[in-house]
Amino acid sequence: MAFNKRIKIKSLLESDFVGQEVTLMGWVRTKRSNKNVSFVALNDGSTINNYQVVADPNIIEEEILKRITTGACIKITGQIVDSQGAGQNSEIAASKIEILGDADPEKYPLQPKKHSLEFLREIAHLRMRTNTFGAVFRVRHALAFAVHKYFNDKGFFYIHTPIITASDAEGAGETFKVTTLDIKNPPLTEEGKIDYKEDFFERETNLTVSGQLEGELAAMALAEIYTFGPTFRAENSNTTRHLAEFWMIEPEMAFYDAEDNQDLAEDFLQSVIGYALEHCKDDLAFLDKRAAEEEQSKKADQRSELGLLERLQFVTDNKFERITYTEAVEILRNSTPNKKKKFQYLIKDWGVDLQSEHERYLVEKHFKKPVILTDYPKEIKSFYMRLNEDGKTVAAMDILFPGIGEIVGGSQREERLENLTARMEEMNIPQEEMWWYLDTRRFGATPHAGFGLGFERLVQFVTGMGNIRDVIAFPRTPGNAEF
Ligand code: 4AD
Ligand code: MG
Repeated sequence: MAFNKRIKIKSLLESDFVGQEVTLMGWVRTKRSNKNVSFVALNDGSTINNYQVVADPNIIEEEILKRITTGACIKITGQIVDSQGAGQNSEIAASKIEILGDADPEKYPLQPKKHSLEFLREIAHLRMRTNTFGAVFRVRHALAFAVHKYFNDKGFFYIHTPIITASDAEGAGETFKVTTLDIKNPPLTEEGKIDYKEDFFERETNLTVSGQLEGELAAMALAEIYTFGPTFRAENSNTTRHLAEFWMIEPEMAFYDAEDNQDLAEDFLQSVIGYALEHCKDDLAFLDKRAAEEEQSKKADQRSELGLLERLQFVTDNKFERITYTEAVEILRNSTPNKKKKFQYLIKDWGVDLQSEHERYLVEKHFKKPVILTDYPKEIKSFYMRLNEDGKTVAAMDILFPGIGEIVGGSQREERLENLTARMEEMNIPQEEMWWYLDTRRFGATPHAGFGLGFERLVQFVTGMGNIRDVIAFPRTPGNAEF
């Protein structure tokens, strides 16, 4: 028999195997023993549920039983029998147990007790073996699958945009450089600057901050496309919402205006969250309880009114609020925290950028539902956004979620060549290097729009995890690139 002919615990729990001889493999969560028998709780990653292994010391050698400790990996062959114990219908009566990998109980850092999320971050290589992280990563997978399914069902094409680029799509100057030059002794030009002509790509390059610009080129041929890839930002933000390496989903659609873009984004978010609700019931039930326990440790006025599952259901069932930046500024200016000077950044004049405290006030206190904020002042948005009739605002949209703040940023794009180049000039964006981008406005331009969803922020929302570092397997943040 091939080594991996095993039954997954998930399948075992979904249908009736009683009477059958099967093989299970997985990691020991706990073992309880008395004179007559040992009970082992086994987890194999396929589900949050453990499966009970019953080991009779008359059948399984003492030497083996001793090595069944928390964290060890074992292979069990035996018969599935009806279970006497509460909380489970069946269990496996082991006829043979092999130790695949020992875990020295003196040294294994994960014990069957509650560890703090901070501690688990320090052992990110092992934390996936806990209930919380197992659940988070299974939900993360389901969401990634739902993203592809959603777009595939709608006839969008998945485009792989480059990770190494020579452009800074968002123009924020927060890029990681890519070079093979000797940084201690780089070649210099006559003016004494670094001579990138000598570098690998014969120009200055960096890791991409967004696949949008390349996505736009694809949309000008395939009409409806999306990207789903890693993006990198060297912003020094040590917050619970920022990573230096995160995954972004960026659909880009020819023939869409700002409103079509908003409709798509709303339907997309509701659909993928609905998929998780339908397909991750056990994991979400566990995370719902976990989040409720965490809420208890917060001050009463900071607790959210809805539980995790209620919040997800609420978002899938209710239309998002749509308001303009101008309306939002009016609401914020007249809000209690602004009048009582409770905001760290007070809202005085039209034109200021909104901080996450403002976004969260609008979503959590004022509207109590997701908000699509549109038509921002052009000064605080990227060069590629379409100028509105008023000449002051652009056809931008940010989607704000409870507990998260901004989850989506997007816009209708400026398809009019003169407007685009004028804006690039104002913002000091070099046009020669962007000739390929401008060509889409020279040849067969059309209204088009798109948006970017921060995948980890979505996973945060769906799992209820408070810190973005806990929804990506190996987080990269300032000062942190272990594992
Ligand atoms: O708003 P952003 O910067 O928009 C863009 O990059 C556009 N090119 C998207 C587009 O129109 N195609 O980023 C989009 C989203 C944000 O709303 C946020 O969810 C997420 O990406 N994001 C981050 N997530 C984690 N860590 C960071 N440092 C993030 N920066 C942005
Ligand atoms: Mg943004």
